Amino acid sequence: MRRKIIAGNWKMNLTLAEAKSIATGLAGKLGQTRPEVMVFPSSIHLPSVSEILQNTNVVVGSQNAYQSGLTAMTGEISPVQLKELGINTSLVGHSERRQFLGETNEILNEKVKFLLGQGFRVIYCIGETLAERETGNTFNVLNTQIKQGLKGIESSLFERLIIAYEPVWAIGTGKVATPEQAEEAHSFIRKEIAGLFVGASTLAEAIQILYGGSVKADNIASLLTKPNIDGGLVGGASQKLDSFLSLII
Ligand code: 13P
Repeated sequence: MRRKIIAGNWKMNLTLAEAKSIATGLAGKLGQTRPEVMVFPSSIHLPSVSEILQNTNVVVGSQNAYQSGLTAMTGEISPVQLKELGINTSLVGHSERRQFLGETNEILNEKVKFLLGQGFRVIYCIGETLAERETGNTFNVLNTQIKQGLKGIESSLFERLIIAYEPVWAIGTGKVATPEQAEEAHSFIRKEIAGLFVGASTLAEAIQILYGGSVKADNIASLLTKPNIDGGLVGGASQKLDSFLSLII
């Protein structure tokens, strides 16, 4: 049985006061929740948010990390530094970073490998643009993102890998994929993972695949009824305490 995950990606949207206020609200409200709850604040807010959530079940993760230990790399953050704050979960390859910050599948492969090697849990984000969907390329794009992004990852590291399917056309647009569209993509992703190497089918069965893109209180339940959808990676609706809580409890 795959445990459900509801993860909030706060992107660069919140002030420190807002991030702390949501974290405080979560700390007070979430006891033993069934889905695992994760939040991904801005890096600069990680110390404050993780302090507030330290004795709770809420996982605090980073939105990005650089694929190296301590080194000369101005402006970046090493997983080694994140671990000092107790952070050992990270998003990798969010479409905003692929689209606007030039992260390629090759770079993301380095990140996934390095982070998993450092003991991190990694949420590797994939998904097609509207143009790719409309030209019938959704499955080619997903295939490439999986094959290249997960190339050479040892089977023993897969237990800390999570996939997020986030169709770019559904992110922040209010256009959610239908549960059927999402399920079709998720089941394709699971099959692709099963085909990565001999013996990968057990890992594929166990891997959690989250859906992201305009997830809200009124669509989460129907998405989660689908057999291959194991949770949500939520942007906007995670950035207000009440709407985030309505997705979780
Ligand atoms: P929205 O929920 O705002 O569409 O964002 C989704 C997302 O990008 C989560 O990573």
